[in-house]
Amino acid sequence: MEVIICENPEEVVVRGFQTVKKQVERLTEPVLGLATGATMEPLYALMRGLDLSASTTFNLDEYVGLGPDHPCSYAAYMEKHLFSHTKVRKFHLLNGLTEDIPQHCQDYEQAIKEAGGLDLQLLGIGSDGHIAFNEPGSSLSSRTRLKILTSMTREANSKHFPPGEDVPKYVLTMGVGTVMEARHCLLLAYGQSKARAVAGAIEGGVSAFCPASILQMHPRCTMIVDEAAASLLKLKDYYRNVYENKPEWMNSQ
Ligand code: GLP
Repeated sequence: MEVIICENPEEVVVRGFQTVKKQVERLTEPVLGLATGATMEPLYALMRGLDLSASTTFNLDEYVGLGPDHPCSYAAYMEKHLFSHTKVRKFHLLNGLTEDIPQHCQDYEQAIKEAGGLDLQLLGIGSDGHIAFNEPGSSLSSRTRLKILTSMTREANSKHFPPGEDVPKYVLTMGVGTVMEARHCLLLAYGQSKARAVAGAIEGGVSAFCPASILQMHPRCTMIVDEAAASLLKLKDYYRNVYENKPEWMNSQ
């Protein structure tokens, strides 16, 4: 796991963008896993300037019961922040209105496989340590399926919903095992509210209690965090030292 500590959120986003850009420009037909949430918004603002016409995308998750016409669906989020600004070769979204959830989830897994797997998976992190919508207790080898949100996540995500509208209880999400098969995972986190989750993910024991901690087992995971999100890390100085002394050839990969 590579941990990059930046001075502020803006730098987190720019460094994250550089990684995405490098992969998109290096690969002939990139397959990107996309995340949602406030963290990703400034990243997508930069990605609009990329040529994604050869890229296939798969989103991580969706609320059950919300279709693309609902402004709080992740389908609407993607349209607003990325797809209406730049053309992608093909995008895949989980359908919150599907009538056959198990079949739909299985088809989604199959579509990822048929696309050749995910080259780069973008990830945010929930303040309870979730990735995608894999809440604490999620099997660390889980596949795309239905999950029930914790009250903490529903509360945190209520900022994206109009006052008085409940955050859906049920969601569809790629599994932890699905995410772990991506060839490169790139997690961005900034702000004090993410400090505990970030510390759990990077320095805690690997446990379903903090699903993001499984990324410690990923062969290629980059975590880009700002000072506030890194504030509870014990080995901060070491991570900085590693980053500053990284051999040049490793940067070109
Ligand atoms: C949601 C998404 C996650 C995201 C998390 C953090 O729960 N399903 O993929 O990482 O929110 O969101 P934010 O970036 O808004 O803090």
